[in-house]
This record gives sequence, C-alpha cells and structure tokens, in this order.
Amino acid sequence: MGRIVSKFYLTTPLYYVNAKPHIGHAYTEIAADVLARYYRAKGSEVLFLTGTDEHGQKIDRAAREAGMEPKAFTDKMSATFGDLWKILNIDTYEFIRTTEPRHVRAVQAVWRDLEKKGEVYKGSYTGWYCTPDENFWLESQVLRAEGKVLCPDCRRPLEKIEEENFFFKLSGHQKWLMEEIEKGGRFKVLPETRKNEVMGFLKNNELQDLCISRPKNRLSWGIQSPLSEGHVTYVWFDALINYITACGYGSDKGIDKRWPADVHLIGKDILRHHAVIWPALLHALGLEPPKRVFAHGWWVVDGQKMSKSLGNATDPIEIVKTYGVDAFRYFLLRETPFGNDGTFSEEALITRCNADLANGLGNLLSRTLTMCEKYFEGKIPEGTFIAEYLKEAPGDLDRRLEHAMGNLAFSEALEHIWTVVNRANEYIEKKAPWTLAKQGNRQELELVIFSLIQILNILAKAVAPFMPSTAEKIRAQLGSGGKIAKGTSLFPRIETK
Ligand code: MSP
Repeated sequence: MGRIVSKFYLTTPLYYVNAKPHIGHAYTEIAADVLARYYRAKGSEVLFLTGTDEHGQKIDRAAREAGMEPKAFTDKMSATFGDLWKILNIDTYEFIRTTEPRHVRAVQAVWRDLEKKGEVYKGSYTGWYCTPDENFWLESQVLRAEGKVLCPDCRRPLEKIEEENFFFKLSGHQKWLMEEIEKGGRFKVLPETRKNEVMGFLKNNELQDLCISRPKNRLSWGIQSPLSEGHVTYVWFDALINYITACGYGSDKGIDKRWPADVHLIGKDILRHHAVIWPALLHALGLEPPKRVFAHGWWVVDGQKMSKSLGNATDPIEIVKTYGVDAFRYFLLRETPFGNDGTFSEEALITRCNADLANGLGNLLSRTLTMCEKYFEGKIPEGTFIAEYLKEAPGDLDRRLEHAMGNLAFSEALEHIWTVVNRANEYIEKKAPWTLAKQGNRQELELVIFSLIQILNILAKAVAPFMPSTAEKIRAQLGSGGKIAKGTSLFPRIETK
C-alpha cells in the first residue's frame, strides 16, 4: 500500500510591483519558505504560492512615472522579486502574476459565476479612494484634518470618486461570517488578537456591498469584466482570486483538491481583505474558506512601519551581503514572535548573531570537531547511546517543533532548538573533555564526543528549514564514513564599530 501523503497549501500575499521589495516583503517570504521546507521534510506535498499583484491605479501611475507602459513596467519589476527570492534561498515555489492568462481566465470565471448566483449588480459609487492602499472609503469613514480628506488606515490623502460600477453583495454575508470566525472551526483567523480585531470590526460595522469594478475611461489597467465592455476589475478583487487560480479555478479541469489553503500568510494591514472579503467571496462561489489566515506584524523603524513611501525601507540585499543570508533569515524569525511588530536595526541583528549563532551553534560545532581531530584523529568514536545529560534536551524536540510550527510560532521553535545548543555547550564545560584526555579516560571521552556529534546531527536537521545552507555546512563538516571534515567557522563574529 502506498503511503498517504498529506497536502499542504500555503500562500504569501501577492506583492505590489510599484517598487522594489524591502524587508517587510522578505519577511513573509522567508516565513513561508521555512514552513514549506518544514512540511516538505515531513513528507507533505507542498504547494507554496507567491507572486506579484500587477494591476490597479497605483501600478498604472508608477509605470507612467517611470515613463513605461504598464505591461513592460510590471515585467521588469516582477522579476526583481524572483531575483530576491534566489538571494534569500527560497526553495521550490509557484510564482503567479495577476497579468497571466490563467489568472485573467479565473477572474472572469468568478465574475460570471457570481452573476449566475445573483451576487453582483450595477450601481453608482460616490465616495473616496486611497490609491496607495487601493481601498474604497465611504464619506462616513474618512478622516478630515487641516482641510484634507485622509485615509483612516494610512492617513494619506484620498481622491474623490463618482462612478458607475459593479457591486458584490458583501452585506449579505455578515451573519454567517461572524458565526464562522467566532467558532474558529474550519476557518481560523490568527493570532487571537487579529481574530478579536475582525470580530470587533464586524460587530461595530454593518458590511456595505463592495465595489468590484473601475470604469475603463478612468482606469484601464485591469482585468476586463465579462459583464461590461466599459469596466475592468477592481484590483483587490482581482488579486485575492489568485489563491484559487493556482488550484485550477476557471480552467477546463476546475478547482482541484489542493483547495482549501492550509494557511494564507499576510501582514496585519491586509487583514480585512483576507478575513472578511475573501471568505465572503468564496462562500458566494460555494467554495470552502481557507483553513487559516495568519496575520504577522510589521517591521518598524523609529516607531514607523517600514515602507518604501516613507523612505525608511532597508534593502534586504544589502543586509544579506553584509551578514549572510542565514543570519538574516534567523534574525527575522527569532527576534519577534510572528504576530507581533519588531524593530529592525543592524545592532540588534549583530547582537543576536554573535550571541546565538557565532557563540552558540558555530562554537559548538567548531569545539566538537576540534576535539574530535585532536583526540581521535578526526574519526568519530563509535558509540551506541547518547549521554543522559544531552538526551534530555532533544528528547522531545521533534514534538515541540511540531507544536510550535503548527502554530506558526517560529521564534518559539528556534528557542527550543537553542535550548539544545546551549545544553550541549554546557555539557562540554561540565565534562571538560581536555581533563578526561589528560586523565587518559578514553571511554568517557568517546562517549562525550560521540554524543556531541549525534546532537549536531539532530541540530542540522532541526535548523534546516530556517537556515538551509548552515544545515548543509554542518552536515558537510560532520563528514562521511565516520570521518569528520572540519571547515571554516559557520558564523564569524561580527565586530562592532
Ligand atoms: N498587493 C497586496 C496584497 C494582495 S494579496 C492578494 C499588498 N501588497 S504589498 O506589497 O503592499 O504588501 C505585501 C505584504 O508585505 C503585506 O502582507 C504587508 O503586510 C507586508 N509588508 C509590507 N511592509 C511591511 C513591513 N514593514 N513589515 C512587515 N510586513 C510588511 O498589500
């Protein structure tokens, strides 16, 4: 009988291509890669979907400002994301662009299916539009300050809109959606704080029908609506559908078994789109909601969200050049619990890397291998069991990791791994192998070195999803055929100025 392989479908948001990616984008992508690698190693069939969001007013304007046609501009910008994923060592993923034919087909199929189900109608829209966020706001929701009308989310100026448009009957979905989120059974909004935020919003606001088109004479850079020659699709409505495009929606075969998604990873700024609009749209189509939507926090600089438009964005490529890709991956996931905001600074990164990576894991490997060379000429002593003291720590590491990863608690998972690292370093101090060697206690010395090498094998496997090239380096230095191959240090100490 064949082994039953479980599927795991995870997604990142589709990134806007108006500017090059920064640390905020790298963050979601790395987190997704760690999950994908973890579940792949456990034998799941993983679909890891990521890509770029290319239509709408913001991109149209960015293209014009760059003096380019939107298509040529998005081709060029979309590629910068793929280039970064290579640098960040992001493993097998499927990349989707909202300008691809398969996605256009899916979006148009959604239009038609919604019309059949009586979920769309034509009406007139009078209100406000936030171009940077691509959101519609009603008169009753906007902020007014110093004679300006501002976005209640990002506080940037809004534009007045009066247009004939199509609407999706979002208002009809409020009741079941509240019940579904409250129950948290087949559709979970995570972490708990975000669930509360969405529930609070739904309790205090009556959902309005959602405008899902833009007139072509105002904005033509969008997916043609099959219901009206004069309209294209509103960019958020277009983008969300990507998650089912990848599973075949709108194709001849139709949507496949990979839906529902196991988890959508998103940033907390796009919670409502994913926890309100998206499940309602799926429900209207007669599809299952995603199993989980997990909203992570923001990387903040001087108290403000890191963003291109605020000019405080750090280029991940520069950080990787200076500190190495694994140090960067480690820092992002270890420094702050995944749902919380984190403050990004190179000082914090250096401190963490020196303490945990150079002095912790790196030192453990190099001390162990140095002793193995010195006392055993590089041959791993034969043994059958790991010393009691060390067994205790990794004993249930797998189970703990499974629990932490199941909750997307990356920093907690890394803490569990580092408990083992620290314990192994303590063990070396405690056992003082150099004294054992002086005393000629070969038996005990063999046990110590054998045990440490086994622990390093366990650690290589545990860190692999987080720091894939470090895991490879550890394995390479642990050698083959019972002989180690000591190399350069894993993480050189970073000197501070
Ligand atoms: N295009 C939409 C998403 C459509 S999904 C169907 C979008 N794109 S975005 O490029 O603006 O943002 C993509 C993701 O990056 C969001 O999840 C956002 O939260 C995240 N980040 C952008 N800046 C960030 C930080 N400073 N910190 C952490 N993540 C942030 O929204």
